[in-house]
Amino acid sequence: MRLAPVLLAGALLLAGCGKSEPPADTSSPETASAETAAPAVEPTAAMGEQVFKRCVACHTIDKGGANGIGPNLHGVVGRAVAAHEGFSYSSALKAKGGAWDAANLDRFLESPMKYAPGTRMAFAGVIDASDRKALILYLEAQSK
Ligand code: HEC
Repeated sequence: MRLAPVLLAGALLLAGCGKSEPPADTSSPETASAETAAPAVEPTAAMGEQVFKRCVACHTIDKGGANGIGPNLHGVVGRAVAAHEGFSYSSALKAKGGAWDAANLDRFLESPMKYAPGTRMAFAGVIDASDRKALILYLEAQSK
């Protein structure tokens, strides 16, 4: 899993933060602003459905849906990369190998061209990390 080093880095960062922070004072303005800066809402599959509107020009997601400019995405989470029947993938994507777990999808959707240089997915990427998280939850929900 590629997630482990990220989590570790996160944990180290948090540990570092804790050390440099002044003693807890719940009335300080810093504490208040840190609380309001937290994401207001947890990403959900329902939010991901909205984000997926950016994808429908090229992708269907219903079971047995037709391939369009891009492959049908039903059940893509957990599926081998570049493996949907009847779709002609770029050699760039075929060369990636592996499977579409959440970590790979997150990296691909952030910047398809960076993840698989030469991919035919002509899409700039979903910049917002919580939009990507919601989108992946939606894709996962469509696998059932
Ligand atoms: C302009 C058309 C276009 C748009 C918009 C687009 N895609 Fe794609 N997508 C493609 C094409 C074409 C491929 C095949 C890429 C290749 O072979 O290199 C692809 C491949 C994929 C794959 C890999 C599928 C597999 O079977 O390996 C995923 C996952 C994916 N797209 C998700 C998305 C999502 C999610 C969005 C919206 C945020 C999106 N795409 C937007 C055209 C598009």
